[in-house]
Amino acid sequence: MSWSKSSWRNFPIKQHPTYKDKEHIKKVEEILCGFPPLVFAREADKLREGFAKASKGKAFLLQGGDCAESFSQFSANNIRDMFKIILQMSVILTFASSYPIIKVGRLAGQFAKPRSSDTETIDGVTYPSYRGDLINEQDLNAREPDPEKLLRGYNQSASTLNLLRAFAQGGFADLASIHKWNLEFVHNNNFGKRFSLLADDITKSLKFLEACGISSENNSALREVDFYTSHEALVLNYEEALTRQDSLSGKWYDCSAHMLWIGERTRDLDHAHVEFLRGVHNPIGVKIGPNATKEDILGLCEKLNSRNEAGRLNLIVRMGSEKIKEKLPALLDSIKGYGLEILWSCDPMHGNTKTSSSGYKTRDFGDVVSEIKNFFEIHRQNGSIPGGLHLELTGQDVTECIGGLQEISEDILHTSYKTQCDPRLNAVQALELSFLVSDILKGSTSL
Ligand code: PEP
Ligand code: CO
Repeated sequence: MSWSKSSWRNFPIKQHPTYKDKEHIKKVEEILCGFPPLVFAREADKLREGFAKASKGKAFLLQGGDCAESFSQFSANNIRDMFKIILQMSVILTFASSYPIIKVGRLAGQFAKPRSSDTETIDGVTYPSYRGDLINEQDLNAREPDPEKLLRGYNQSASTLNLLRAFAQGGFADLASIHKWNLEFVHNNNFGKRFSLLADDITKSLKFLEACGISSENNSALREVDFYTSHEALVLNYEEALTRQDSLSGKWYDCSAHMLWIGERTRDLDHAHVEFLRGVHNPIGVKIGPNATKEDILGLCEKLNSRNEAGRLNLIVRMGSEKIKEKLPALLDSIKGYGLEILWSCDPMHGNTKTSSSGYKTRDFGDVVSEIKNFFEIHRQNGSIPGGLHLELTGQDVTECIGGLQEISEDILHTSYKTQCDPRLNAVQALELSFLVSDILKGSTSL
């Protein structure tokens, strides 16, 4: 079946904005088509190679960031702190597993949100739902999708990516500076201290290497990191406009990010999102909720990875801490004989969202940990590879998820609840989780 970057327009589509002013959206698409790509095809290929390694248990994927980035909270400090926490987490995980950690941010483009309801009723008046800053606004008077926001999203993504590239390659990620990565507010916390001890060990190893003639000055592997970007490919007008043909290989890439994923609500096999992403050569993720069937998995593999290549397809399981035990073992068993190349990762966030007694949307740290443990154990029993984690987190000191050793309780959620959409692990919870996962990785036979 032939594919073009606009063939998705002939398919049914869910969760997509309908722009009233057709001329306006067309004009914005033309402008975006003229803008430079945000990523380069070879970078996406390199990430595919990383995914292939992770799917074989020779690397581990750490994907994380905000549920939704926002225009109003855009700042260099926020980007720096997100970068820092992901670096810290990856050092903790590398130290435990001795495998490379592939770092992918939900960053530089994660602006559009699927919603469980199309509308929201407040005081008897019904409004269209807020769908992320790429589409409309939280302000009730600005809920009509506005094409101009696609341009702002592109611009914010470009400057975010610019800073990330500077951090990743410009010396900030130098292992010799590892002590500086601890965020201010975690210094005196148990996990901040545990990180400092680990940093001491790494500094000692670096001194030894330096005595042998290897230092970050003469070895870029100690000085630089590869940091990739990703987001949910939801607004296909935007994704299409940033899809370009690589002049070297002739293949198409969605150059809005290195990796794109399809959400749980938009992964219908004969719908537009699957149609669009099947034709681009980036590594692709798909969220897999508790109702996914064997036919869904086989269909997704067939459509999105028809050549069954390792590294192309990442299935991101998000079933919930209890449901995963009920559903994942049978699902994995049902596809066992097919030899499918899949990178399995675990999103322990989206199946564990609940409303607190104070009315805030929250997640319990204990449920997050329990889903991860179940994910590893189920794969161990099945003989398959648990290859990564997909998290919603922030480098900020927020109170959005309850629990953890900080013992954030429901009644203090309001003190620093800043998320644009879903509740995120704060920086201390993210470190705590990394130490727990590092213990699982150390004891794991499949990694
Ligand atoms: C998300 O990752 O923010 C999201 C909405 O996930 P899901 O599609 O799994 O619900
Ligand atoms: Co979310």
